[in-house]
Amino acid sequence: MNNRWNEWIYKLWSPLYDTFFNSGEFRKARQKVFQGESYHENQRILFVGVGTGADLEWIHHQTLNITAIDYSNEMLEKARRKFRDSRIQFLKMDAQKMSFHDHQFDVVIGSLILSVVPDADQCLKEMIRVLKEDGELILFDKFIPEGRGLSPIKKVLRPLIRLAGTDIGLSFEALVEKYKGTISVQEDMPLMFNGMYRKIVIIKRHP
Ligand SMILES: C[S@@+](CC[C@H](N)C(=O)[O-])C[C@H]1O[C@@H](n2cnc3c(N)ncnc32)[C@H](O)[C@@H]1O
Repeated sequence: MNNRWNEWIYKLWSPLYDTFFNSGEFRKARQKVFQGESYHENQRILFVGVGTGADLEWIHHQTLNITAIDYSNEMLEKARRKFRDSRIQFLKMDAQKMSFHDHQFDVVIGSLILSVVPDADQCLKEMIRVLKEDGELILFDKFIPEGRGLSPIKKVLRPLIRLAGTDIGLSFEALVEKYKGTISVQEDMPLMFNGMYRKIVIIKRHP
């Protein structure tokens, strides 16, 4: 999997995306992700892989200082159109190699992006790099439930689903292992499909 493939796949997904991933259970899960979260106008907030902007509906996007990146022009265009009255800065950028300085953002939000980028480890590293100390990284994504492997059927399906633009075999615990001294996991809440989809809140520690 590489960026070019993802660009093409998400160009195809863009007209249908909200019908599948911003409705029903997904919509309810997104609402839960942002329930109780409150942000201030003086905070800088980054959405990584913002897609069509499905998450933006759940926060005060008109007043907050939001930057949103994605690699697909078509997904970004959908988001731009939906939120044309806001002052959100939409940018085409690779989540694995962001052009932001270190420690720029108070809050970084990554929904369904670690399971999509070709290199989840590199993407997580970048999310942590651009986050301020004590800043909050909010993830909403699908991971293998802790202590359980992939079922035989999922092992067979994994490469096919990967071709459709997402990985069902990512382990959050393996991903964060090497950042144990840098971050702490503040919240880890199962949201959908037997705990496959989780909300995870990470705080970046002082060195
Ligand atoms: C499953 S969608 C999630 C979109 C949105 N965050 C949501 O929750 O609905 C994955 C998004 O990641 C974007 N993407 C894929 N590879 C990327 C990369 N290397 N850098 C930035 N965005 C990427 C895709 O274009 C797509 O919009």
